[in-house]
Amino acid sequence: MSATEPVVAARPEVLAGLDHWRTLPVAQQPTWPDGGAVEAVAAEIAALPPLVFAGEIDQLRARLAAAAAGRAFVLQGGDCAETFSGATADQIRSRVKTILQMAVVLTYGASVPVVKMGRMAGQFAKPRSSDTETRDGTTLPAYRGDMVNGYEFTAASRAHDPQRLVRGYHTAAATLNLVRAFTQGGFADLREVHSWNRGFATNPANQRYEGLAGEIDRAVRFMEAAGADFDELKRVEFYTAHEALLMEYERAMTRIDSRNGTPVDTSAHFVWIGERTRQLGHAHLDFVSRIRNPIGVKVGPAMTADELERLVDLVDPDREPGRLTLITRMGAGRIRDALPPLLEAAQRFESTPLWITDPMHGNGITTPTGYKTRRFDDVVDEVRGFFEAHRHAGTWPGGIHVELTGDDVTECLGGSEHIDEETLSTRYESLCDPRLNHMQSLELAFLVAEELGQRRSR
Ligand code: PEP
Ligand code: CO
Repeated sequence: MSATEPVVAARPEVLAGLDHWRTLPVAQQPTWPDGGAVEAVAAEIAALPPLVFAGEIDQLRARLAAAAAGRAFVLQGGDCAETFSGATADQIRSRVKTILQMAVVLTYGASVPVVKMGRMAGQFAKPRSSDTETRDGTTLPAYRGDMVNGYEFTAASRAHDPQRLVRGYHTAAATLNLVRAFTQGGFADLREVHSWNRGFATNPANQRYEGLAGEIDRAVRFMEAAGADFDELKRVEFYTAHEALLMEYERAMTRIDSRNGTPVDTSAHFVWIGERTRQLGHAHLDFVSRIRNPIGVKVGPAMTADELERLVDLVDPDREPGRLTLITRMGAGRIRDALPPLLEAAQRFESTPLWITDPMHGNGITTPTGYKTRRFDDVVDEVRGFFEAHRHAGTWPGGIHVELTGDDVTECLGGSEHIDEETLSTRYESLCDPRLNHMQSLELAFLVAEELGQRRSR
């Protein structure tokens, strides 16, 4: 910063507000050991550099405002739960690659700008329906994500360890460093569309992608020959997002923007509040209502119009474009009746949030053999229901939020590879919810591109 730039301090009531959540009920927090260990860790994290910058956060808000207004589409994707051991160059690269390929399919297929966001570089904490897990008569604390405890089923590993918050910060930093290198350093260059597909080309979705990449190649070569300057195509904007679950971590990562004295959570560009922690009058919504990042809130089928209005009044009182994203996760069987009243209600109280579909979390099933899974057909059906509801309401279906991996895992049933219940066990790697594999992700992108293309041409 230059010496002439003014440094604006936060007003005392703004600073005090950042800790108001401590006086409220708070769900889904670890039980940290007594003796001040978490306070010491929070102080350590508060002194570490920010992971993202306020200017980037403002830029994302502008992009999301465009999407809310029907001028862009948001693609959010990544693991249900990232793990520390999974933060390898190969896995990070293949996830980024899958998201880039999906984005190309959407951009080209629907002629609409795509805002790219990874559910990554910080997605290390999970809400759980039960505090404990029992195996063969032994009961231990449930796995809450690598930032809280270990997956291994031993008392030592399942103990809640605040030092994991520090490791989470450093793993997020290393992941983000590689993501920035991939997306800024030439790997994401649009002239590389073919290379992202390498090693996959025998699958139907990948073959379809090859065709599309060929068309893009020809278009780019034509434009180059015509003298267009393609420097812009070398880089892509790529943003990070995760569920803001662990209050001590998000609070410690919140810094004051010296340009204007406002608080920003520098753990990610975008944070969301999950279906299990979005209670009005509780800690999570109170906290995010006081930070300047664009905020997501998951919305399940039980949400009422009245509750939605109070939520919008709290998180987006000024009805600021790009501020609030509602991530609906209704289930394929519910979306067509549960979403329309909410779309209508939002118009009534003059809110134009960005609406995104999460077609994963309302469609979970467990197989007789005990695997948590989802049917690809249910995922597709919820996406179609989402587009239908928005078409009827005259509102813009602004994006999609999916759990995916760039690898060839077998965690969700169906898709053109026809993964069945028997196949699930061959490569089931998720420690949490089942993810679409690389090919299912691409297939879904083609389908969304078709829906979006129809919507655009109306
Ligand atoms: C998730 O996104 O992994 C999740 C737990 O979602 P939800 O809060 O919608 O259940
Ligand atoms: Co999940």
